[in-house]
Amino acid sequence: MTVKLTLPAQSEMLSKDFIYGVATASFQIEGGANNRLPCIWDTFCDTPGKVVDGSNGDIACDHYNLWQQDVELIASLGVDAYRLSISWPRVINESGELNPAGVDYYLNILDSLKSKNIKAFVTLYHWDLPQYLEDEGGWLNRATAYKFRDYADKISLAFGDRVYSYATLNEPFCSAFLGYEAGVHAPGIVGKEFGKKAAHHLLLAHGLAMQVLVKNSPNSQNGIVLNFTPGYPESTSLADVKATAFADDYFNQWYIKPIFDGEYPEIMAQLPTAHQPEIHEGDMAIIAHPTDFLGVNFYTRAIYRADADEHFLQIDPPEPHTDIGWEIYPQAFTELLVSLNDKYSLPPIYITENGAAMADRLVDGVVNDIDRIDYYQSHLNAVHDAIEQGVQVSGYFAWSLMDNFEWAEGYLKRFGIVYVDYDTQVRTIKASGLAYKALISNR
Ligand code: FCB
Repeated sequence: MTVKLTLPAQSEMLSKDFIYGVATASFQIEGGANNRLPCIWDTFCDTPGKVVDGSNGDIACDHYNLWQQDVELIASLGVDAYRLSISWPRVINESGELNPAGVDYYLNILDSLKSKNIKAFVTLYHWDLPQYLEDEGGWLNRATAYKFRDYADKISLAFGDRVYSYATLNEPFCSAFLGYEAGVHAPGIVGKEFGKKAAHHLLLAHGLAMQVLVKNSPNSQNGIVLNFTPGYPESTSLADVKATAFADDYFNQWYIKPIFDGEYPEIMAQLPTAHQPEIHEGDMAIIAHPTDFLGVNFYTRAIYRADADEHFLQIDPPEPHTDIGWEIYPQAFTELLVSLNDKYSLPPIYITENGAAMADRLVDGVVNDIDRIDYYQSHLNAVHDAIEQGVQVSGYFAWSLMDNFEWAEGYLKRFGIVYVDYDTQVRTIKASGLAYKALISNR
C-alpha cells in the first residue's frame, strides 16, 4: 500500500510547468442559498426521493461564508491552480443583468487566488441552471443556449484578466442524459426523446459562449470539460463489441465528436426521429469553434453486453470499487486518452477531474485514506503512461478539494482530499491531501 504519491523520475508530470490543482463546483460547496436565485438543484432536492439522504445545498460546506479560509487551505496544499464554478443564479438576475453582490463574491475569490499566485480555472456551468430558465423549458428550450451566451459575455467582461482558464460547461453528458433522459439528476425529466435535444442545446451554448470568450478574454485558455466512461465489451462476441461501440457513441463520442469533427456520431441515423435533436443550419459550425484545451474528467469504465430489446445493456461492475460503487480500473484512463488522441485532432488536455469516494473515518483528528492514495497513485501513473504514448496533457486536478454535496447521493459520499465535518464545518486535510501536497512540492 502506498502512503506517498510518486512518478517515474523522468516524468513530464514532475515538471514545474505541469499544472496541479484541486476542483470544486458552486452548488456542491457554497451554500449561501439566500444570496442567489433558486436553481434546478434546489427544486430537485426539495422533491422527495430524489436525493438519497434528503439533503440539499442550502449550507453545503458554507464556502459562501468560509471562502477566505478555504483559499488559505488551497494555498496550503501548494497547488498551482484551483478549478471552481460560477453559480449562474448568483451572478445574473432574472432580467439578465449582472447581480453586483454575486459578482463581487467571485471577484474577491479571484483576487485572493491571484494574490497567492494560484491560477483560476473557472467553469461557467456546473449544473446549477437558474430555475426561472427551467420554467421556460431549460435545456430543452433553444433560447437557453443564447441566455448562456449572454451570461458568459457579461461575466467574462466583469472578471477581466483574473481568469487563467474558462470552461464553458462541465460534463454536458450529465446535464443532458442524467438530467433530461434518465432523470436521476436535476431537473429530473425522463424520456429518450429529450436527452439528445438537451445535449444539442448544451453544445450550442458551448459554441456560442466560445465566441464571446475569445473576444472578451483572448488571453485565457478557453475550452470545455467533458466526462468519459469508456466502454468495454463483456465478451469478445461481435454482438457485445457492437453493443459497446453503440454505447460509447451514445454516451461519450456524442459530446466530443461535434466539437472536434463538427458532426454527431453516425448512430444518429439509428435513433428514432423523435429522439433526434433539431439541428439548425450553422449549428454544427458554432459547436465546432476551436478550443484552447479539452478538459477530461475520468473516474471509471463501464462494461456492456448486447441486448435483444435495447442497443446495449450495462452490466454490474466487478470488484474492486470505490465507496460509490464505481470500479477502479486505471488502465481505462490510459486507453481513453490514447484513443481520443488517435481519433481527434485535439488541443492540449487538462485532466479536470479525477478522484475517488471512500468510506473515510476521522479518528483522533486524522483521516488515513490509504485507499484513496492508492487510487490517485494508479491514476497518476495512467496519465503518465498516456503522455509516454504521445498524448499532450498539461495538468491534473484532484476531485475534490473537500468533501461536498455529491448530487443525488447527498452528503453520503466523500470525494475530498480534505475532510469536512458538516456539523462544525471544520476541515481536516486527509492523508491523501498531504500526499498530493508532497508530490506537488517535491517537483
Ligand atoms: C462528476 C462531477 C462532479 C462530481 C464528480 C464525483 O461527474 O462533475 O461534480 O460530482 O463527478
